[in-house]
Amino acid sequence: MNDFIFHNPGKVYFGRNQIENLPNELLKFGKKVLLVYGGGSIKKNGLYDTVTELIHKNGMELFELSGVEPNPRHTTANKGAEICKKEKIDVILAVGGGSTIDCAKGVAAAAVTYDGDVWPLVSGGKWITEALPIIAVLTNAATGSEMDAWAVISNMDTNEKIGLGGSALIPKVAFENPEYSYTLPTYQTACGAFDIFNHVLDNYYLAGDATFDMILDMQEAVMRAVVKWAPIAMKEPENYEARANLMWASSMALNTVLDAGTVHGCACHAMEHELSAYYDITHGHGLAIITPRWLTYILNDETAPAIYRLGVKVFGIKEGLSDKEGAKGAIDALSKFCFETLGLKSTLTELGINDEHFKSMAEHACTGSVITGPKDLTPEDVENIYRMCL
Ligand code: NZQ
Ligand code: ZN
Repeated sequence: MNDFIFHNPGKVYFGRNQIENLPNELLKFGKKVLLVYGGGSIKKNGLYDTVTELIHKNGMELFELSGVEPNPRHTTANKGAEICKKEKIDVILAVGGGSTIDCAKGVAAAAVTYDGDVWPLVSGGKWITEALPIIAVLTNAATGSEMDAWAVISNMDTNEKIGLGGSALIPKVAFENPEYSYTLPTYQTACGAFDIFNHVLDNYYLAGDATFDMILDMQEAVMRAVVKWAPIAMKEPENYEARANLMWASSMALNTVLDAGTVHGCACHAMEHELSAYYDITHGHGLAIITPRWLTYILNDETAPAIYRLGVKVFGIKEGLSDKEGAKGAIDALSKFCFETLGLKSTLTELGINDEHFKSMAEHACTGSVITGPKDLTPEDVENIYRMCL
């Protein structure tokens, strides 16, 4: 077991009637609020009206950055930073899914720099310790951005999608009302669910000896919750219990509670971000296509016991098989979950992706070296895995 520091200062209001606390939390930072949101889902489901009414009623001044794209662009974050500088914004309010919250983080970081450009921060890998405060109202259980220190920003001119991290990027407060995700389309529910699953899986496998039992059990509990509640949320979008379990699972997966000295890996994420950067696909779907192939590729005598354990604890496959046989059963169960239960297309070919850019994507995913993990992946390994996904 490794030593570790746990420090997540994010505050969460969880549940049906918590939004009434929003004005008090915003006013702690000031009266000038930049509302950041996506392509309009919050206007359709009434959340925009709820939030703006609370802001106006409580004497705050409202500015807006709308149209944040899924896979948010650096150019959009820069527009937000320009508003912040010009209007002397006190606090940024992100209302939406991971893309909106990530864009708000990009805005918050860029707004306190001299030229207001987020891209040098992203591409330079700078750890952000200064930024405007962010408050998030979550509408999609998926990325964990509502409680984590990361934002993923895309530059479509250079086909790059890169994480921007920093302690200053953790939202000061997050509002999580499962009802806000009732209007989420089935496809996004499925993709979000698999994103949560994969965040935990990345951690689970790299953990190895550094994990203590309690943490393994907690990780498995979060993955089991996804497997149990995602199909229910897909069939019954207004099932509170299902939406609530997924929403808290989203936060738990990346708020570092499940780290506890383990190493958080990112093999599938590194490979997926290249797909989104080149083809603008939905993150969770890319992960679902890659993950079973990655597990198949890394399956060997060393990794088999952990993969088998996942099958037993999360998918309920039977005990007493050989490690290899059990691990294969686990991968089959995971594939069924992705492509039958969640109903996601199972190949890159079906998403219109061919091998044209695999070589450059693989090299970029490995950032000039290897992707570390249960089995380190070279660019050649990554290219092989992409090919298995066709
Ligand atoms: O843009 P709007 O109109 O709001 O519609 C969105 C968007 O079209 C819609 N949506 C969200 N909530 C809704 C809703 N529609 C109806 N009702 C609701 N309640 O869903 C679509 C997808 O939204 P998006 O925010 O893109 O999804 P998600 O939350 O999955 O975020 C994905 C982004 O986060 C990054 C991904 O790479 C991707 O760019 N990630 C961020 C991470 C982080 N910050 O730590 C980690 C993750 O691994 C991930 O990489
Ligand atoms: Zn993810």
